[in-house]
Parts: sequence; structure tokens; C-alpha cells
Amino acid sequence: MLAIDAARLTRRLAELARFGALPGGGVTRSCWSPAYEGARAWLLGEIRAAGLAPWVDGAGNVFGAIGIDRVGVERPVVLTGSHIDTVPEGGTLDGALGVIAGLECLQTIVENKATPRCPLAVAAWSDEEGRYGSLFGSRAFCGLLDVARIPEMAAVDGEKLVDVMRRAGFDPARVPEARAPAGAVAAYVELHIEQGPRLEEAGVEIGVVQAIVGVRRSRIIFHGQADHAGTTPMARRRDAFLGGAEYALRAREHVVTHGSAVSVTNIGVVYVHPGASNIVPGRAELVHEMRDPDAAVLERLWTECREIAEGVARERQLRVEIRPTSATVPALCSPTIQAAVETVCAKLGHSTQRMDSAAGHDAQNLAAVTEAGMIFIPSVGGKSHRTDETSDPRAIERGANVLLHTLLTLAT
Ligand code: HGY
Ligand code: MN
Ligand code: MN
Repeated sequence: MLAIDAARLTRRLAELARFGALPGGGVTRSCWSPAYEGARAWLLGEIRAAGLAPWVDGAGNVFGAIGIDRVGVERPVVLTGSHIDTVPEGGTLDGALGVIAGLECLQTIVENKATPRCPLAVAAWSDEEGRYGSLFGSRAFCGLLDVARIPEMAAVDGEKLVDVMRRAGFDPARVPEARAPAGAVAAYVELHIEQGPRLEEAGVEIGVVQAIVGVRRSRIIFHGQADHAGTTPMARRRDAFLGGAEYALRAREHVVTHGSAVSVTNIGVVYVHPGASNIVPGRAELVHEMRDPDAAVLERLWTECREIAEGVARERQLRVEIRPTSATVPALCSPTIQAAVETVCAKLGHSTQRMDSAAGHDAQNLAAVTEAGMIFIPSVGGKSHRTDETSDPRAIERGANVLLHTLLTLAT
């Protein structure tokens, strides 16, 4: 039975990990950064070396293909892929696994002349982690990106998307060209680490994803009054940070007690302005996100959290601004793809379990335009979005072989 070259897969994962590598382990490789552009050039070289046709679209998505040199309706493509951008101080497998395993699968197919009826391609989607805009590259490809917003899209620290794209040699005006014509993608399947503890704790080898959560993010900005931290009487202070702190605790409690059994929430970015120890904070900015597989639950929680923010502002004589920044739609994975993965796993003798993804993925955009699904492998200790993210090498090889045979099933 056809099998991937595990040593080559391991080598490429290690080579990719060098771009943006951190001294103590892990990687920081945000999209369009110099480290990312070095990784892009390296990946295009590996795509060519694998005997695949390489190209990059207007949104910076990188492709390598068998049987086509562009995505088009004349020959619908069976697509795999993931992302090579990372979160700050992230792991070496989140995203990279799906791209490098997809490349390995296609090279194995070419080398063994197992060329199927349908064209096959692997994609590395731009800015999946959303430093400038969540799931950017796959949104552009699937026609889900509001291109009018591109000029204003920016990271939380203010760095603008158009500036970093231009610095990397891309013209933001060409992003709309990335949109694939309807019917151009016959199917999409993505290999990814679970990024959680469930498979490992259940002792199951492969996760078959049924649904992917929606994620809603907003900037919550509390305005108070900067004042002298020594001379201003405590009762007269309008401390914006305390407003933010109280909101954070109450919003979290609300989502845990009033959300669904799987609702989660996080505040991972906080700015206090002017940011000196001897000034009462005049402004506090939070980026608040919440997730759930049910869009209606997300909508309700968001409305309720906005009311909490407004209540905190009133009680503390503050003003509050709420600026939604991104909202991804929960997606159901294709039963056809789920069944194909399970059939392959039965043939290969791997245990499986159906599960939802509490992480967002590009597959949730592809689900809007084609039959889309995901294959998970266990994460050691459920760790991810941290430098010690890792998976067992045998799990990596297993996942890549399941991807290989799922792609062959879908493309023949
Ligand atoms: O944040 C996420 O869920 C994914 O890792 N982008
Ligand atoms: Mn991630
Ligand atoms: Mn990811």
C-alpha cells in the first residue's frame, strides 16, 4: 500500500521550523514578515523539487499541484493544505503539519505515478492566525473576504495589512484576484494537530472533524481620565483599567455560566494608556474573543457581553467603545469527507473518533464552497499556541498516510 516518506516529512518540518525559530524553542512567523517570506521562498523551492507546479495568488496563498498550474472550473481540483504562519511564540506543527504533509502526499503520488483522475493541489493559506484579519487567505480564495475593508485591516498594535503586504512585494489591490471560480474545488481535506487533549486522553489515533467553531472578536475600549497616581483622591479616580478588569471577570463568568457546554472565551490582548506607573489609566483596550459551534449562541452571548460592558462603564463613570473586529462562521464538515477518512482509517487499522474543533481553521471557509473536512492527530498534553507544542512522530506519520489515502479516494 502506498505510503509517505516519513524521514522526508520530518526533515521538511524541521527545515520550516527554522524560519522564525526562537532561541528556547518554538516559532514566531507572522504572515508577510521577513521570516514568513523566507519560509514562502523555501516552500516554493520544495514544491518545485517535489515535481509539482507552483504558484502564488493575489492574496499570497501558495499552491503546489499535480495536473494543473492554476485553479479553474475546467478541471476541479481536490485540495489539501493549511497554513505556515504562526501565533507569537507558537509551535512548529500548528498549520505547518498540514502544508508539509500535503506536499509529502503529492510528491509520493508523483513518484509512484499514482496520478489520479482529478488534479490535486496543496495550499498554504495566508494569515490563518489572523494577525491582520482572521483566516485571510482562505477567505479571499472562497470569496468570503470583504475586500473593501482591506485598507483598514491592521494588527492590534496598529501595523497595517497593506503596508506589510507591500513590504513583502504584494499589491493589496490584487487580493480579489485570489477568488476561485465557483466549482473549481471538488473537495478539501486538511490535516491538523488537535491542539487539545481529547484524542490523547481517549487513546484514539485519528480525529474526524464534524464541526468547526465560530470565533467572534471585538476591541473593547474603556475611556476614563488620566490623573496623578499620588495626588488624585481615590474616590475621584476614573480608572479605565479597573473598568477593563471588571469587564474581563464578569464577561468570562457570563460565558461560562450562560453559554453552551462548549462556549469558551478569552482576553489575550490588553493595552493600558498612557501606561506609566504614576498615572491613573485614562484608557484600557481589550481584545475579547468568544467561540461556539452555534452561531445563535455566539450572537446571544455577544449581545449580553456588550450590555455588561455598558453597565461597567456606567457604574465607574467611564465611556466604553465596542468595535467588532472579526467573526468567523461555524461550519459543518462534509459527511462524505468524514466517511472517506473513516474508510481509510479502517483499511489502515487506525482508531477514530468524531469530534468538533474548538480551534478555527481554513477548512471552515472551504466548507462554504466545497465538500470540506479535517483529519486531527493527537497533541501531546493537548498543548498548542505555546512553544512546547508537539505530537508523537508516529502520529504525524499516521496522519500523513491517512491524508494520502483520503486524497487518493477523493481524486479517483
Ligand atoms: O485561533 C485558532 O483557533 C486557530 O489556531 N487559528
Ligand atoms: Mn493556531
Ligand atoms: Mn492552525
